[in-house]
Order: sequence, then structure tokens, then C-alpha cells
Amino acid sequence: MTSDDLQGSRVRRVTCHSSLATAPMHLRSFRPADLQTLYEIDQACFPPGISYSRDEIARFIAKQGSRTWVAEADDEIVGFLTADRHPTMLLGHVITVDVVEGWRRRGVGSALMDAAEEWARQEGFAAISLETGENNLAAQAFYEARGYSRYEKLERYYANGEGAWITVKWLKEGHRAQARAAPRSRKRKDKR
Ligand SMILES: CC(C)(COP(=O)(O)OP(=O)(O)OC[C@H]1O[C@@H](n2cnc3c(N)ncnc32)[C@H](O)[C@@H]1OP(=O)(O)O)[C@@H](O)C(=O)NCCC(=O)NCCS
Repeated sequence: MTSDDLQGSRVRRVTCHSSLATAPMHLRSFRPADLQTLYEIDQACFPPGISYSRDEIARFIAKQGSRTWVAEADDEIVGFLTADRHPTMLLGHVITVDVVEGWRRRGVGSALMDAAEEWARQEGFAAISLETGENNLAAQAFYEARGYSRYEKLERYYANGEGAWITVKWLKEGHRAQARAAPRSRKRKDKR
């Protein structure tokens, strides 16, 4: 497995804005009517040049084989996660996970990741990967707490010049040894 195998659409960083709420949270599937809200959450979460356009989000969600989970509380969307799969290998990939600021540290991100990892296991994927900004210490702590590890650094990965860590959770132990032995590629995606 190479970095190209693990590298997909960019996942990014920053803070969102929402009032604090205490209603119970649940996950549900994406509905077309959610798109504008997910776009607004992503815009609030990430700076220009790193946040996705509405069309990009729509494309990720509509992509064949991708999955989107929406976290909802009291009829308000408080987070979402979109994941896709490698076109030829048994690898899952988190495109983005966004939790509204007022709902952070309440288990929303964990619930979304639980759903994505459960899907990846059901699909028989060897691993699930994502890219996280080298300066996004909160996200790094979040993934580390979930058993993810840094696989490879991508220099100047984002349009703002920030590097990214390909971050991986191995779902099948045998594949971890294989991946360690595999040659790695430094080829990067085109910049946005
Ligand atoms: C990263 C993010 C998705 C985490 O979502 P969340 O709902 O706050 O995460 P959880 O409440 O499930 O946190 C689970 C655990 O992860 C760790 N963690 C989460 N946020 C952390 C932080 N800011 N600092 C340190 N550890 C953190 C903790 O161990 C936490 O458990 P605890 O609260 O009992 O200590 C959320 O902060 C976010 O949306 N950030 C902005 C967008 C972003 O950066 N997305 C990821 C891009 S790679």
C-alpha cells in the first residue's frame, strides 16, 4: 500500500459556531435537504481555500460507494461525516468529519467515527484512512484516542501551505505488516 492508496480528498480543520445544546444526539443517513446546512457547517469549520464548496460536498456525497452520516439533536444538525472507498483496494477513507463547535467534546465525533468504522468493517476494508493538518492538534488527539496512527507526512498538502498527516486505523492486523513493507509514493494531489 502506498501513500497514494491512502490519500484521497482533503480533510481539514478549524472551529465552528453554534449555540450550546443539551438534547440527545442521534445519527441518521443524509437527506438531500441537508446539503445547504452541511455546506454552512463546513464553511464555518474551515477557512477559505480549505473548506469545500457546495458543489464539492454534493459531489463527495453523491459519489458511488460513498457514505454520509448526519448527527442530529433536537432537529438541528450538529455534525456530519462523509467517507468513501478506494476505487480498487479494500480501503475506506474519511473525507471530512465536522462537529459544530458548541457540540464538541460530547461524543458526536466519536459516534460519527464509530459509524464509519463499522461500515468499513462490514465492507471488509483492511484499513480506514484520512488526512489531518499537521497543526490540527485537536483532531490529532481525537484520532489518536481512537487508535489511529500517523502513516506518512504530506508536505504543503493544503492550499494554505499546511502539511498533512495521512492517518490510519488498521482494521485487519495482517494488512498492517503488508503495508509497512510496501513502497511509498510521494506523489501529491493537485492543489485546490
Ligand atoms: C475533531 C472533532 C471532529 C472531534 O469531535 P468531538 O465531537 O469534539 O469529539 P469527541 O467528543 O467524540 O471526543 C472524543 C475524544 O477525542 C479526544 N479529543 C477530542 N477533541 C479533543 C481536543 N480538542 N483536544 C484533545 N483531545 C480531544 C478526547 O480524548 C475525547 O474524549 P474526552 O472528551 O472524553 O476527553 C471536532 O473537534 C471538529 O469537528 N473539529 C473541527 C473540524 C476538524 O478539525 N475535523 C477533523 C479534520 S482532520
